[in-house]
Parts: sequence; C-alpha cells; structure tokens
Amino acid sequence: MQSTSESNQFTLITDTLTKFAYQGFQQNKSLFSLAHKTISDRLTSIFVPETENIAQPLSPKILLELERRRNQLCEADWQDAQKGVYPVDTLFDSLWQDFLRYYPNIWIDLPSIWSRLQKKEYQKFSSEIEQQGYPRYYLQNFHHQTDGYLSDMSANLYDLQVEILFSGLADSMRRRILAPLKQGLTKFSSVPPHQIKVLDVACGTGRTLKFIRATLPKASLFGVDLSPAYLRKANQLLSKNPRELPQLTQANAEDLPHPDNFFHGVSCVFLFHELPAAARQQVIEECFRVMKPGGILTICDSMQLLDSPEFDVVMENFPAIFHEPYYRDYIQDNLVKRLEKAGFEKIETEVHFVSKYWIARKPEIA
Ligand SMILES: C[S@@+](CC[C@H](N)C(=O)[O-])C[C@H]1O[C@@H](n2cnc3c(N)ncnc32)[C@H](O)[C@@H]1O
Repeated sequence: MQSTSESNQFTLITDTLTKFAYQGFQQNKSLFSLAHKTISDRLTSIFVPETENIAQPLSPKILLELERRRNQLCEADWQDAQKGVYPVDTLFDSLWQDFLRYYPNIWIDLPSIWSRLQKKEYQKFSSEIEQQGYPRYYLQNFHHQTDGYLSDMSANLYDLQVEILFSGLADSMRRRILAPLKQGLTKFSSVPPHQIKVLDVACGTGRTLKFIRATLPKASLFGVDLSPAYLRKANQLLSKNPRELPQLTQANAEDLPHPDNFFHGVSCVFLFHELPAAARQQVIEECFRVMKPGGILTICDSMQLLDSPEFDVVMENFPAIFHEPYYRDYIQDNLVKRLEKAGFEKIETEVHFVSKYWIARKPEIA
C-alpha cells in the first residue's frame, strides 16, 4: 500500500507536470497567434496601404506589463482548477477540430476584408443574409467579419479569430467569471443542484456555457443570442457533452424572453463593448428583471480607461484596427453606475489581463 507521504509526493509531481503542460500549451498558442498577426498585418498593409500606420506602436513598458498580466491570468486560471472550481482538463480545452477544418478560411476571407476596408464598407451583408428583425446597431461587420454575426462561416471562424486576437487566452479570460458565479450560487445551497438555473446572455458559439457546464455539472443552463448561426454553432459544441443540453434561444438581450425572478445566476461575456450606451443599460435592466432576489450576475468585457489608463494606446488601437463602433464610448462608460441604477448591489470589479469583470447581486428583497 502507498504511504500518505508517497501519495503526496506523487500528487506534487503530477501537479507540477500538469502545470508545465498547461504553461507550454498557452505558450504555443501565444507564439502561433503572434506569427499569425504579424503575417496578416503585413499583408493587410501591403494590400490596403492606408491601414499601415493606423495602430500606434506599443512601448516596451506596456509590452512588459501585458506580459505580467498575461502570466497572472494563467496563474489564476491554474489556481482555480487546482481549487476545484472547474476540472483541470478544462484548462486544456482547445479548438483543434475547428482549427484543422476552418483555419485556412481565415486566410481565404482576407481579400474580402481588404476590399471592404478599401471601400470603407462596415455594414455589408451578402444578399442571402436576412437582415429583418435585428436592431440597427447590430447590423455591422464587427471586427470586419464577413456577414457580421449572421453567417455560418462567421460562426465557424469566430472562436479561432478571438483566440488569435487574445494570444490564446480568450478561454482563460472567460473562465474568470466562474469562481464568482459558483461562489455567488452558494447562497442557494438549499436548492437542489439540478434546479439551479443559469443564463448566459449573448452566448455566441457557446464556449462560456461549456465552461459553466464543467463548473456546475447539474445546473439547468440557458443561452440567448441574436445570431441564429452562432446558436447553431453553440448547439454543435454543447451537444457533444453527455450532460443535459443548455436551452438555447434566439432573442435580443434587451428584451429577454424569460419570466421575472427566474434565474439564480446570469453571465455575460464580451457583449457590452458591442452595444450602444442605451442598449447597455437596457440589457442590464433585463438581467436584473429575470434574476431571482439574491441572484448573482457576472460580466466579463474589455478593460476600460477608468481603471487601466496606462493601456490607453492599446484601447485606442483596438477600434482603429477592428471595426468596433461602440468601443470608444464603452471604455469611458461607468457600468457600476448602470448596475446600481438597475437595482444591483454589492458590486465588485476585477481586472485580469485585458479584461474587466463586474460581479453584482440582486438584493434579497427587490
Ligand atoms: C463578441 S461576441 C461574444 C460571444 C460570446 N459571449 C463569447 O464569449 O465569445 C458578441 C455576441 O453578442 C451577440 N449579440 C450582440 N448584440 C446582442 C443583443 N442585443 N442581444 C443578444 N445577443 C447579442 C452577438 O450575436 C455575438 O454572438
């Protein structure tokens, strides 16, 4: 039989090896993203010369600080997995299948993006794309994506593009909502786990829901998004999991199709910077309405000028390079005030890498 000290030693060795593997996994993604961005930016500046000096160079101080924040994010991700917030294998979740199938399409799509850039077209959709029924602010080629959020190819490329944009850290950034969400739900410890209801607003291709499922294996999960194509993609991803399938609904987050006081938890990742100010407030009000008293809201989005002024160049570059029409307004917007206006309390904020997080509670007696 193994003694306790032998077993502790074995755990220490496997943990150390797993951590090395995780660091190597992240490092490889980061190097790949850097290579991709370098080549793609170079080609873009050759074919659309007016984009050449559009982004300001980042100082060595900013690059060092980004590297420091990057390492901190990876460490926090690792620590949460160690503490059992989510299983360690979640850290190694990857986009291999999409990568093998769709990565060439990112390059194939570049000439269409260059053509739109040259013509300054930012709201262009193929003729077969149905544009009826969407808010005007939504009908944009966000990030210069062909057909915006409204085609299957856009949904197939989205996660790869976000992963490259964030140097392989997009999922680690999403996972920062999980510990406060899980902690916030302990308030409902008398509710059987399968009766806990959690909604992911603007769930996109379902990656956040996938991580919420890993964190809360028994909970009833729900997702809402405006894009039918992204919901189809989310359905493909989430139906691979043998556990109960989240209920996915096409709807505007400004007008959620759920009853009042329904969810114990609500999350929302990378939505607010793509909304005009009035829509931001309305989505927050809707999150408040559908949450049960005592429920927990966790938001993840871009860092803001308010708390990361040292990164102002990074935040100026982002909407200059990518089409993000509401971003400049977003980085100056005080979401704490908006949350308070809706009725939320105990609002906390955190910043990790280039993201910001809001954790807020609906009061017990609303
Ligand atoms: C940047 S993506 C984020 C997707 C996902 N949460 C993630 O972590 O990758 C923004 C998503 O918000 C959705 N969206 C934008 N405006 C919306 C609205 N008013 N109501 C519902 N979904 C919306 C888009 O269709 C898209 O899937």
